[in-house]
This record gives sequence, structure tokens and C-alpha cells, in this order.
Amino acid sequence: MRIDILTGLPKLLESPLQESILRRAQEKGKVEIVIHDLREFAHDKHKTIDDTPYGGGAGMILKPEPIFECVESLGSQRSYDEVILLTPDGEPFSQRVANELSLKANVMLICGHYKGVDERVREALATRSVSIGDYVLTGGELAAAVIVDAVVRLVPGVLNDTESALSDSFQDGLLGAPQYTRPAEYRGLNVPDVLLSGNHSEIEEWRQQQRFARTKSRRKGNYSS
Ligand code: ADE
Repeated sequence: MRIDILTGLPKLLESPLQESILRRAQEKGKVEIVIHDLREFAHDKHKTIDDTPYGGGAGMILKPEPIFECVESLGSQRSYDEVILLTPDGEPFSQRVANELSLKANVMLICGHYKGVDERVREALATRSVSIGDYVLTGGELAAAVIVDAVVRLVPGVLNDTESALSDSFQDGLLGAPQYTRPAEYRGLNVPDVLLSGNHSEIEEWRQQQRFARTKSRRKGNYSS
């Protein structure tokens, strides 16, 4: 899988993509992540990529030209399954969307600016727009990092058996069960007896009950992936 990220702030993205599982996935050649600095597509010597909004109002809006030109340059090299605009008014990101994206060969992520992106980018370039939650970030960069992280770990061969994504919270629409490790008693806090019992069917039953109870109370019982 290849993921191209278009941003005016490439430095914000560099370190989250170079650690842990994401680094390993790239080293193993399972995924290629390429960051593109939109300023390289600016037209003036100040490398301007934003401008004031027509009609007035606070803040700066990302200009269309650098984004169009970067997307066109990439699109002439390979065809993209998805061109995703990251914006707080997009479709909510979820494990379902992550699963869907993990099956694609080429995905482009366009990081928006907190005040917005010229709407023609959405109209003419984006196949969909995605939000990671109902709050406003200063830009789409951290949202892109979240999406890349959630997607890449689902790409076949990225996780090994013990890390398997199949047992994750959300993969079957339920939250995860509580987990404990040694010691069995710490500062008077005990690990539930059932987990120490060695009885695998009871442990499985307990975990499943916990997952239902947590999902019901924390997601009002109507969570679905
Ligand atoms: N850009 C700013 N806020 C965002 C959000 N919540 N999701 C995606 N992109 C964003």
C-alpha cells in the first residue's frame, strides 16, 4: 500500500510516522508513506499556500492551486483509489473506514487548514472527506497521523500473530475487555480471580460479558463498527 500525504506543515507529520509499528511497516516494505510539502507547489517567492476568504471572515484558507498541482502531479504517476480531504466537517472516521482503506493500493490524504480549504478542492479532487472527531484541530496533520496509524496496522503482514488486529476493540463492534499483567496483587488492587483460574472457557465467557457491559455503558449499547 502507498499513502501520499499533502501538507503545508510536513514537520508535524515526520516523527509520528517514524516510530514503532509504522516505522517497521515501512522498513518491511508493507507500506510506503510519502509526505509532500505543498509549499513546493506555491507560485510566489514567499511560497504562499493560503489566502483570506472571499466574502470576509477570520483566518486563512488553503489556496486551490498548490493542492490541484500536487494532486495532478501524483495522479499522473499512478491512479489513486481514494483522495481524502481531512476536515472537521467530513464523514466520521471509524474502524469500518480504517478496514476499508487498508484494502486500497494508493490513498492520498490532503491535510486541511483549521479555517478551511478552498471548496473546489473537495468538489473536483476529493473522493471523500473525513473527520477524526467533532473537535477542531489546528490542521489535518494530526488527523492524517491518526488515520495512517489505524490503517497501516491493518495491512496484512504489518502486525505479527501476537499483535493481531483481529482481537482489537471494535473489530467486531465491541469494546475490549479489561487486561491485567503481573503482579496479581498491587497496592491492594487484585486481578480478577477468573483470570488466574487457568479455565479458558470461563475466561472467554468473562471477557465477552465485560465487553458487552463496557460497550453498553460507554457507547449507550448502540455502537457498531
Ligand atoms: N482538521 C481540523 N480538525 C479536524 C478533524 N477533527 N478531523 C480531520 N481533520 C481536521
